Amino acid sequence: MLPAASEQDRPASRPAPAYPEHLRAVVETRLESLRFGTDAQAAGLEEAMRYSLLAGGKRIRPVLALATASAIGRDPEWVLPLAMAVELIHTYSLIHDDLPPMDDDDLRRGRPTCHRAFGEDVAILAGDGLYAEAFVLLLTRQQAEPSRLLAAAGTLARATGAQGMVAGQYIDVAGTAEAGPEGLRRLHELKTGRLIAASIECVLLLAGGHEDVGHGSFLTFARELGVLFQIVDDILDVTGSPETLGKQQGSDERLGKRTYVTEFGLDGARELAAESHARARAALAQAAPLTGADLEQITDFIATRSF
Ligand code: IPE
Ligand code: IPE
Ligand code: MG
Ligand code: MG
Ligand code: MG
Repeated sequence: MLPAASEQDRPASRPAPAYPEHLRAVVETRLESLRFGTDAQAAGLEEAMRYSLLAGGKRIRPVLALATASAIGRDPEWVLPLAMAVELIHTYSLIHDDLPPMDDDDLRRGRPTCHRAFGEDVAILAGDGLYAEAFVLLLTRQQAEPSRLLAAAGTLARATGAQGMVAGQYIDVAGTAEAGPEGLRRLHELKTGRLIAASIECVLLLAGGHEDVGHGSFLTFARELGVLFQIVDDILDVTGSPETLGKQQGSDERLGKRTYVTEFGLDGARELAAESHARARAALAQAAPLTGADLEQITDFIATRSF
């Protein structure tokens, strides 16, 4: 089960947003089964990798991958290697994001951050290891026609590289986002949106048929969902609590980060999140009018979550 949000964060009249727990349970079990090392001398590296990976994140990205498979009529478990790969990459990004020269955070997923538990040197290597092992999983375990597998691997690599997530992280730490709403949206598209979108797009690529009519709407949905996710993350950095979030609240303000809240105020950010949510739901309704129930739940969860 996802951790319950604290009562003061949610009015009694508003129920906890639903989440496809059955998919999350499959993801969790498979993540727990992953082992990375064989050398006893490197056991500490595997320990640090698994410490951060198995600390109980929301698993939104892998669950999105499984729900996308189901929305296009495939067995969700078919894309588990891809889904694991995405979660490994996400976890690496969190470990590095928390390092002292980056966001310098001490709490993640309700535990001391990787570098607080194992030291900065080991945390850097744990992140490096997770990134590489993600591609080992995808390239050696994912069943798909080879050209489709290559297309998905290329998309995942690009989404996380110097024109994707890492570019977004650079723009974030260097403070080089262009002025104005478009500059901020671009930052969010890159640092968070690209990996979330890839969790959906790679499933379509593995399945083939990206010339299908629904593909464009799926991509619109995927990209909007990524931006929505980070707008809500910005809001929660102001309104959340460490107990609920499992990470320190107030990091953005402490670091002088540019966010939807600094740009538009709390109410403005909430309005923009609501608009983004509506756009995502509209695109999803076009992409998967009859089969998108799990994706709808995840979309609503992302918009209304309190952690
Ligand atoms: C946090 O991601 C980092 C961002 C990209 C904003 P999540 O909120 O998905 O973190 P976990 O995986 O649940 O810990
Ligand atoms: C992190 O954004 C994005 C990536 C890790 C790529 P944030 O710095 O806002 O994430 P949190 O708030 O620390 O989880
Ligand atoms: Mg950051
Ligand atoms: Mg951070
Ligand atoms: Mg944040």
